[in-house]
Amino acid sequence: MGWKTLDDMDLQGKVVLTRVDINVPVEGGKVTDATRIERIVPTVKDILGRGGKPVLLAHFDRPKGKVVPEMSLKVVLPALEAALGTKVSFAEDCVGPKAAAGIEAVPAGGVLLLENTRFHGGEEKNDPEFAKALAAEGDVYCNDAFSAAHRAHASTEGLARLMPACAGRLMQAELSALEKALGKPERPVVAVVGGAKVSTKLDLLGNLIARVDTLVIGGGMANTFLAAQGIDVGKSLCEHDLTGTAKEIAEKAKAAGCTILLPADVVVAREFKANAASEVVPADECPPDAMILDAGPEATKAVIAAFEASKTLVWNGPLGAFEIPPFNEATDAAARAAASLTREGKLLSVAGGGDTVAALNASGAADDFNYVSTAGGAFLEWLEGKTLPGVAALEKA
Ligand code: 3PG
Ligand code: MG
Repeated sequence: MGWKTLDDMDLQGKVVLTRVDINVPVEGGKVTDATRIERIVPTVKDILGRGGKPVLLAHFDRPKGKVVPEMSLKVVLPALEAALGTKVSFAEDCVGPKAAAGIEAVPAGGVLLLENTRFHGGEEKNDPEFAKALAAEGDVYCNDAFSAAHRAHASTEGLARLMPACAGRLMQAELSALEKALGKPERPVVAVVGGAKVSTKLDLLGNLIARVDTLVIGGGMANTFLAAQGIDVGKSLCEHDLTGTAKEIAEKAKAAGCTILLPADVVVAREFKANAASEVVPADECPPDAMILDAGPEATKAVIAAFEASKTLVWNGPLGAFEIPPFNEATDAAARAAASLTREGKLLSVAGGGDTVAALNASGAADDFNYVSTAGGAFLEWLEGKTLPGVAALEKA
């Protein structure tokens, strides 16, 4: 990995422009999940410990180049202060006189958060002038925003080309976990790919079948693969126009020596609501008026057996409609099995993607995984084998 880390930089007395991703869920003015905020703490403390002044650069939501007061980063300040255990100053702009005054005013040992970079159109356009204005504010650039590294924006990509640049601790941790899981993994490797739609995960499936030994397909996606085998999936969520594509993927997997695991049995219901009456049927016996909402107990056993036979697990997407009980059961049971194999040192487990993390948290399994990524889109693009502009810029820096 050809990028520098904080260990390679002299930070004493330096202003360190630190790109973080604190794009966290907020409801009623309060942060409802502070995970991303908690995960940047090591980097901020490390910079402080080396005598640097961390100036945090971040986006929040999608204001599209305009000042949208409801999308001010001010809302995360209390959660940020709680995570860091220290007061954090705030500047109401990320460039210009307000930013400069804010940076000037932070005492040694203090932390400053700059307002939403996406309030400026230059951020998402990766405008060189905007990037230059940001770069002029500091001495060193530290990118700790793996989960925004799939965006080639001024603060995630442009800055690395204008200043001495390094990866932060979270960026390092994310990249090394992914490298262990898919770059140079211990084999056999099993991947779980779930979620509603095949159409959003075509590139992912294409890349994974060439790299993993077993591919577990779950969620609504599995229905499309079942339909591709000529199975009637009743009222299930299914992309019927993609059955040809699913067939091709299955053939390519076979040629590559990758076993695709589809559910042998499924949980079906007539209504898509919590605690709807449900029954377990063989996957090829979904009643015409019912829909598949989860993998069945036999299917779950097969997934767990695949985990037991593997050394490495990469997980993206739930096995069923995990948000509405009891259709979380397959996901929960499989996640708990992965967690206990991990605890026993038999499996290296890495998971990522918004829904995935929510599902693993709900099952209580997340803490035992070797690594749970903070990234959604960036995790997916990495698994797809794509180059992440934010990472590539660090490599070139
Ligand atoms: C995310 O939440 O996925 C990242 O912060 C990137 O945000 P974006 O999808 O709005 O670019
Ligand atoms: Mg996103």
